[in-house]
Amino acid sequence: MKPGRILSGMRPTGRLHLGNWVGALENWVRLQNEGWSNYHMVADWHMLTTGHDDTSRLQSDTHEMVVDWLAAGLDPEKSVIFVQSAVKEHAELHLLFSMLVSKARLERIPTLKEQIRDLHLDEQTISYGHLGYSVLQAADILLYRATHVPVGEDQVPHVELTREIARRFNHLYCRNRAPVFPEPEAMLTRFPRLRGNDGQRMSKSAGNALMLAATPDEIAVYVKGAYTDPKKIRANDPGRPEADPSDGHPGCVVWEYHRKFTPSEAETIARKCRAGELACVPDKQHLTRSLADALAPIRERRARWADDPDAVREVIADGNRRARAVAERTMDEVRGAMGLASTAEVPR
Ligand code: TRP
Repeated sequence: MKPGRILSGMRPTGRLHLGNWVGALENWVRLQNEGWSNYHMVADWHMLTTGHDDTSRLQSDTHEMVVDWLAAGLDPEKSVIFVQSAVKEHAELHLLFSMLVSKARLERIPTLKEQIRDLHLDEQTISYGHLGYSVLQAADILLYRATHVPVGEDQVPHVELTREIARRFNHLYCRNRAPVFPEPEAMLTRFPRLRGNDGQRMSKSAGNALMLAATPDEIAVYVKGAYTDPKKIRANDPGRPEADPSDGHPGCVVWEYHRKFTPSEAETIARKCRAGELACVPDKQHLTRSLADALAPIRERRARWADDPDAVREVIADGNRRARAVAERTMDEVRGAMGLASTAEVPR
């Protein structure tokens, strides 16, 4: 595929875990190194849509998350790393887009329905801002005229809405000119979701997350506690790496991690396990070593960036400047296409 421009972001949740890395970050770094033009945004305004009362951690969570991005290998020379609220054009484009989407369309977005269910919100009291979550996300993506959006499965409905908005805008306002926006495509990761060691969805709040900067000892404890096949009791009992619906076994977590972190040996491991030739204890030790090796460079880079908070702030300030330059150019075109006053006429 010919490299295009990607935009992706995360809400500032502080330090990241292995699931964030496998599900997203690793992909960003790979694309960056394959010559894509990368824009990565801390979605702090999005964070407010579901939690606006306590904003005390926004700054520190932003900082810690960006440190993990850098630790994972995002290179500020190649990738633009910036904060949404530092580029006011996101708000302007969000407002203009909000005219192009119906309330009913937004209410049908599955992510919103899930949030209402998971956060025990009342549909009647959901805020105007929260309803517009995905309109803001469309503005994030289209402001940079991204061609691709590397995200997890759960974000696909937002990208779909983004495409609809781009199409609608181009159709309404670009009849006699080149379209302002591309229709961006979602780019899914090959490993959509790494489960936590208990077999459930990995999340910090569930307490089943392995942090990206975990030490080898922490990794060992985490893997020791990992869910395997409950029917494999003795060392030489046969085990089931894959899920088995007959008793609801969701699949062995250690096997899932092997496929990710020791891919060349994963088939042999599964065969030996099924044959009763591999016990869980040495298998877990094996995985622990592979994981520790994979995370060592991340931990080392993290230590260096964490030692120099001013350098991290400079990365963000520089990213904000570069993001603003692109955003301003897009907004000039947007205003031109819509027949709105250009900023050249309006004193800032
Ligand atoms: N909604 C995304 C999430 O919760 C975060 C996000 C905000 C985003 N704006 C974006 C992701 C633009 C991709 C592109 O993870």
